[in-house]
Amino acid sequence: MKILGIETSCDETAAAVVEDGRRLLSSAVASSMDLHIQYGGVVPEIAARSHVEAILPVIRQALDDADCAWDDIDAIGVTYGAGLSGSLLIGVMTARTLAIARGKALYGINHVEAHVYANFLTETALPGYKMPAALPAFPLLAIIVSGGHSQLVLFRGHFDYTVLGRTQDDAIGEAFDKVAKMLGLPYPGGPSIAEAAANGNANAFSFPKAKMDKYDFSFSGPKTAVLRLAQAQIGETFDFPSTKLPGRLSAAQKADIAASFQRAAVETIVAKAKTAYEEFSPRGVVLAGGVAANRELRRQLSAALPLPIAYPDPKLCTDNAAMVAALTCFKVSLGQPAADPYGLTIDPNLAM
Ligand code: KG4
Ligand code: ZN
Repeated sequence: MKILGIETSCDETAAAVVEDGRRLLSSAVASSMDLHIQYGGVVPEIAARSHVEAILPVIRQALDDADCAWDDIDAIGVTYGAGLSGSLLIGVMTARTLAIARGKALYGINHVEAHVYANFLTETALPGYKMPAALPAFPLLAIIVSGGHSQLVLFRGHFDYTVLGRTQDDAIGEAFDKVAKMLGLPYPGGPSIAEAAANGNANAFSFPKAKMDKYDFSFSGPKTAVLRLAQAQIGETFDFPSTKLPGRLSAAQKADIAASFQRAAVETIVAKAKTAYEEFSPRGVVLAGGVAANRELRRQLSAALPLPIAYPDPKLCTDNAAMVAALTCFKVSLGQPAADPYGLTIDPNLAM
C-alpha cells in the first residue's frame, strides 16, 4: 500500500510517499523559514502564501522521487490540525481536490499524532537517513516535544491512547525559541541554543523548575527566569528591555545561559518521562517532534531509562509529510474512517 502524505500546518510545505506504513519512498520539504527569519518567528500570512506557491511542485517532487504515478497511490493523508489556519487550508484544499480529481480515499490527520508515527518509519533506500532498527513496541510511551506541543502520551495500541499530561502554557520548543531571541540567537531557537550551549557551562546557573501536576509541564515560568537572570548578569533590573540584552551579554554569558537553560528544560522532560516509565512499564519509548532532534535530550533520556529510546532521523523530527503518510497507512489498514473529500475542514486547535 502506497500513501501520499501532505503537510502544511506551519511553515514547511511537505509531501511524501510511504509504503506499508514503514518504508519511506520519498520526502519533499520546502520551507519558507528564510522569509520568517528577519521577523524572529513565523508570520502566518507569509507562510500561507508560500504554501500556495510550493504545494504543487512539492507533491510532484514527492511522486517523482518515489517513482510513482497517480495510479500507484492508494490513498491521500493530509494534516487538518493543529496548526495555523491559513497554512492548514492550503494543504487540506489541495488534498481534497486531488482526492476528488484522482478518485482517491482521503484521510484527515492529526499533526501531533503524526509526529509519533515518524518512529514507525524503519526502512528506506533514500540516502542520508538513519532509521530506527525496529518498530516501536506497545504499550508505547511517546514523549512529544515540538514548537507547539509538549506532552506525554501512553499508547496501548494504534488509535488507543491516553494523554498523561501536557504543557499548561508554552511548549518546550517555543521556550527554546523565546530564550534564543533574548540571547540574540537566530530563529529557530532550538538548534541555535544547542549550538551555543556546546561552548557553555551547563552548571553555570540553576533555573527554578515549575511544580506541576504529575505529568503536566510549564515552560513559561522558566523562560521568565532566564530573562531575570540575564538582566541581573549585566547589572540591570527587571524593567530592562529584553530586546537590548543581546547587545550587552558577552558570548561567554550567552553560551552559559543557553547551556544551563537547555539542561534545565531537558531535565524537566526526562524526570516526568522517567516517572511515567516507572508507573506504566511501557515496552517502548519514542521521542517525537522538532525538539526530539536535541542531542542533550537524547543523551539524558538514554541515561535515565533502562531501554533503548527510539528517535527519528532529525529530518523526520521536524515537520514533514512522511510521518503523515505513515499514520495514514495505519488508518487505512486498521479500518479507520476516511474523510469526506467534499467536507473535510481544518481544525487549528485540534488536540490529541
Ligand atoms: O515539530 P516542529 O518542527 O514543529 C511543530 O510542530 O511545532 O518543531 C519545531 C520546534 C522549534 O521550536 C525548534 O526550535 C525546535 O523544534 N527544535 C529544536 C531542535 N531542532 C528544532 N529544539 C531543540 N534542539 C534542537 N536541536
Ligand atoms: Zn510539528
